Amino acid sequence: MVTGVMNIEEGASLPAKNTFQVFMCSIIAAVGGLMFGYDIGISGGVTSMDTFLIKFFHHVYEKKHRVHENNYCKFDDQLLQLFTSSLYLAGIFASLAASYLSRRFGRKPIIMSASAFFLCGAILNFFAQELGMLIGGRILLGCGIGFGNQTVPLFISEIAPARIRGGLNLMFQFLITIGILAASYVNFLTSTVKDGWRYSLGGAAVPALILLIGSFFIHETPASLIERGKDEEGKRVLRKIRGLEDIELEFNEIKRATEISNKVKSPFKELFTKSENRPPLVCGTLLQFFQQFTGINVVMFYAPVLFQTMGSGNNASLISTVVTNGVNAVATIIAVVMVDRLGRKFFLVEGATQMTATQISIGALLLKHLHLIGPITSRSVPLIVLILICIYVSGFAWSWGPLGWLVPSEIYPLEVRNAGYFCAVAMNMVCTFVIGQFFLSALCRFRSALFFFFAVMNVIMGLFVIFFLPETKGVPIEDMAEQRWKKHWHWRKYFKQN
Ligand code: BGC
Repeated sequence: MVTGVMNIEEGASLPAKNTFQVFMCSIIAAVGGLMFGYDIGISGGVTSMDTFLIKFFHHVYEKKHRVHENNYCKFDDQLLQLFTSSLYLAGIFASLAASYLSRRFGRKPIIMSASAFFLCGAILNFFAQELGMLIGGRILLGCGIGFGNQTVPLFISEIAPARIRGGLNLMFQFLITIGILAASYVNFLTSTVKDGWRYSLGGAAVPALILLIGSFFIHETPASLIERGKDEEGKRVLRKIRGLEDIELEFNEIKRATEISNKVKSPFKELFTKSENRPPLVCGTLLQFFQQFTGINVVMFYAPVLFQTMGSGNNASLISTVVTNGVNAVATIIAVVMVDRLGRKFFLVEGATQMTATQISIGALLLKHLHLIGPITSRSVPLIVLILICIYVSGFAWSWGPLGWLVPSEIYPLEVRNAGYFCAVAMNMVCTFVIGQFFLSALCRFRSALFFFFAVMNVIMGLFVIFFLPETKGVPIEDMAEQRWKKHWHWRKYFKQN
C-alpha cells in the first residue's frame, strides 16, 4: 500500500514547482480540519445554553438552577456527555472503514463522502426534535470526522512536493483551531437568539458545503492512482500538480514504493507482529494517547461550562471561550513556523512543562476558592483562571496539538504507514470519547483534584518524550530506523543486530 506521508527530505531531489494546483488541493482538503474543529468548539457552548437544556436535558437544566446544588456537579449527566462523545465513537469505526476504502477507491471519494456525512449530520441536528435525532446527527457527523481525519492528512502529504510537505501538513491543525474559534464565536452570537442552538449546530453545514463543493475541484493523488494500476492518469496528474513535463523520476519513485508495499499483503498483521515496527507503533500511538490526556478537550468541550461553574454569567463564559480559542489559533502558527527549526522534542517537553504548571495553578485556585456550594466570592479568580487557561492552551497549541498528528505520520516505514497512522487516529478518537464522556462526572466526583491528575499526566508525557522519543526533525523518513530507532538506548533491542 502506498501512503504519501513521506517527509521533506525523502524526495528532496525530486523536481517540482510550487503550483497553484497543489496549494488549492491542500487548502480544500484541509477544510476537513475546519469541520473537525467546528464540531469540537460547538458542543461545549451548546450544552451550556438554557434553551438547549430545556428542550433535551430538562433535568440538567433544573439541577443547574438549584441554588444549593454542588458546584462541581451542575452538569454531571451521562446522556449530556453522550451528546458530545457519541461522535467520537462513530469516528473510530468510520476511520477504520476509511483506511480500507481509501486504498480501494482512492482518497477523493472518501473526502467527498466525509463532507456529505457531515452535511447530513448538520441538517439532522438543525431540525432535531428529540434526543434520538440529536444523537443520530452526531453519529453522522462522527462518520464525517472519521473519514476526514483518516484521509485528509494523508491526502495532503501525497499531493504536496516533499520540500513543503511539513508546513502544508500542519495546515490541517491550523484549520482545526480556526474551526474551534469560529464555533465559539457562533455560539456567542446565537446564545441570545431564540433556539440559537439550532443555528450553532446547523452551522456545521457551512464547512461541510465548502468541502463538498471544493472536493469536485481536487485531483486524486498520483500515489493512489498508481497504486490502483492507473499509471497513465497518475502521470497526467503528476504533470499538472508539479507544473513540469518530465515527471518520470517521481513516477518511478512512487512505482517503486508501490511495488515494495504491495508485497505486504496484510499491513496490520505486519504492524503488530514484526518486532521492528514496535518502536514507532508504541511511540506514535502513545503520542495521541498523551495528546488527549494533556486535558485539552476538557477546555475545548467544557470551557463555557467550567467558567459557569466558577460563577461567570452565560455571556461572560462564552466570551472567555472565544478568547482562549483565539489564543489556540495564534499559538499554532508558532509551531508551523518553528517546528522544523527547533525540533519536535523541544516543543513537546516545553509544552508539557507549561501545561503542568498551569494545571497545578488552576487546581490550587479552585481548591482554595470554589467550594461545594455557593459562587466564588473573589472577583479576580475567574479572570486569573482565564489567563491561566490561555497560557495552558498556548502550550498545547505549539506542541502536542500539531505534533500529535505530525510525528505519527513520519516515523513508520512505508509498508505499514497507513495502518500505523490509523492506530494514531483511533487512539485520538477513543481518548477523546473517554474525556468527553467522563469528564463532567469526574469533575463532580474528584473536583479540583482532576486538574492535579492532568498535571501528573503532563509530567509523565514530558518524561516519556525525553527518554523514549527520538528527535525526528530533519531525518529522512526511510532512514528513520537506521538513524534513530537502531541507535536508541531502548528501542535498538527490537532490531536484529547485523
Ligand atoms: C486535537 C483535538 C483538540 C484540538 C485543539 C487537536 O490536535 O486532536 O482533540 O481539540 O487539537 O486545538
